[in-house]
Amino acid sequence: MSTADATTPVVEPLRPIRSGRSRNHAEQWSWLFMRGSGVLLLVLIFTHLFINLFSGDGVNQIDFAFVAGKWASPVWKIWDFVMLVLAMIHGGNGMRLLINDYARETWMRKTLKTLLTACVATIVVLGSLVIFTFDPCPLDASGDLLPGVPTFCEDVR
Ligand code: HEM
Repeated sequence: MSTADATTPVVEPLRPIRSGRSRNHAEQWSWLFMRGSGVLLLVLIFTHLFINLFSGDGVNQIDFAFVAGKWASPVWKIWDFVMLVLAMIHGGNGMRLLINDYARETWMRKTLKTLLTACVATIVVLGSLVIFTFDPCPLDASGDLLPGVPTFCEDVR
């Protein structure tokens, strides 16, 4: 049962912000981008979940070796990178729309959008570093983390 009833006050979104100048149909592109990236994210995320959680041993297979095995292939590196960047831009743009709708003061909108941009950029940079600098054989590791291939780390050194 819903907790809202006819007497519950509803906070209406503000009217759209008009900057007074044409922004090259930016909001139309934004609308289209949210739908296009949504469809792509569906494919990227559900394939990711299927491979990681359903195929093979399911959730029990996820460990350091599983990640190392996946990221040995450039296909999964690119897949994870595209998923990261697209989800962050999609989520960041969605949050931008929510800020435009609900933040009433100009200074508040600017502050929140600056914080949002910083968060999106930080997560994209850190996530990309994890994906592209991942080392399956860290110097201080014996190679035990890669069961089934005990000599793998000695072989690659
Ligand atoms: C399964 C994949 C996804 C699909 C199909 C999808 C689809 C969509 C669509 C169509 C919209 C536009 C809604 C509107 O304009 O009213 C939207 C908005 C949004 N999405 Fe996604 N999305 C997905 C994943 C994500 C992810 C991973 C994030 C976070 C990183 C995210 C965050 C948001 C936010 C914050 C909004 C704005 C919500 C609003 O305006 O009320 N979405 N999504």
